[in-house]
Amino acid sequence: MTPTIDLKNSRIYIGKGLLAQTGAHIATEYPSAKVLVVTDTTVGGLYLDALEADLKANSIIYNSLVLPDGENTKHLKNIGIICEMAAEMNLNRGDVILALGGGVIGDLAGFAAAVFLRGIRFVALPTTLLSQVDSSVGGKTGVNLPQGKNLVGSFYKANSVLIDTDTLKTLSDREFACGMAEVIKYGCIWDAALFEKLEALDSREKIMGEIDSIVTTCCEIKAKVVREDEFDKGLRMILNFGHTIGHAIENTLGYGELTHGEAVAIGMSKMTHSTEAKGMTEKGTAARLDALLKKHGLPTDMAGYDKQRIFDAAMKDKKNIGKALNIIVAKKIGEVDIVPIAPESLEEYL
Ligand code: NAD
Ligand code: GLY
Repeated sequence: MTPTIDLKNSRIYIGKGLLAQTGAHIATEYPSAKVLVVTDTTVGGLYLDALEADLKANSIIYNSLVLPDGENTKHLKNIGIICEMAAEMNLNRGDVILALGGGVIGDLAGFAAAVFLRGIRFVALPTTLLSQVDSSVGGKTGVNLPQGKNLVGSFYKANSVLIDTDTLKTLSDREFACGMAEVIKYGCIWDAALFEKLEALDSREKIMGEIDSIVTTCCEIKAKVVREDEFDKGLRMILNFGHTIGHAIENTLGYGELTHGEAVAIGMSKMTHSTEAKGMTEKGTAARLDALLKKHGLPTDMAGYDKQRIFDAAMKDKKNIGKALNIIVAKKIGEVDIVPIAPESLEEYL
């Protein structure tokens, strides 16, 4: 297989049917490596038998851990469980932890790979649209604490990211829409042509007709950003467009009521309406963004949510402690600015 993108030795492969080539890929790239597969019940039920058969066919020694699906699985206790299993298997640094699943499994297994033996090989097989265009690329891994999301983690890029776009066929419409929020985000922050393309593709079926090229465009944008700012000191913050409010909504409502993408969609919309009203954003941008989000089944409205609680949650977010808060402002479709504000003034944008 030839990588579609090479991000500082994290090789990203994008195409159809890659799941069936996983065993051959590992046998070729990481000869003699043992593999610990981490997945969740839903994805495991759909794809684990096929993956295990493929590993077996390539004479790879493996074991599999199936965890409950859902955000609660991104928990420190599961890092212990994965690491103990890796130790039972006598994995060494040349062996592989393989994440088969969405962003939850990718973030969790990636963090376990980062800390077991201070780092063993990590292969990601992302199966949600969100994980294919965002979380599997660029090395952010981690788990949640009761105090907030992603409070413990590391930067640890997968050695190989195998993006099999066929796996998206089994995704629910709601989870597909959740990924579309991130796809639309890339259009807003970087690529007006992508945004226009998405405006013309008004159904999941039409998106799936062009999915390899859409996923590749998103991963290329993310790779460009991460190449320039791997450790989130500057440019990478633009990927958080809509996320300050989005994370705060998730923290306020509790994970599970809204998907991550739905919360980010509301965040992007709310922020853009506010910045447009303040003259920081080209007129008409918020309306275009809302229309596109709605077209892809995403919410845009924060009415009905407790704004004070959302503000309090945003202030508690780890990124805001002890420094100016950076908000990401869409100047127009395809172009954003990082704007530092006094944290207290965030309320004006809500
Ligand atoms: P997820 O992993 O919980 O997957 C969503 C649901 O879809 C789950 O129920 C899962 O079992 C199911 N699923 C996954 N693939 C499927 C498939 N092919 N067919 C049918 N069902 C399938 O959620 P997600 O949206 O992929 O990821 C969200 C997580 O990603 C959050 O924890 C978020 O913090 C994290 N995230 C991380 C980064 C990063 O840079 N590391 C970026 C964005 C989001
Ligand atoms: N998803 C945001 C980042 O990777 O920085």
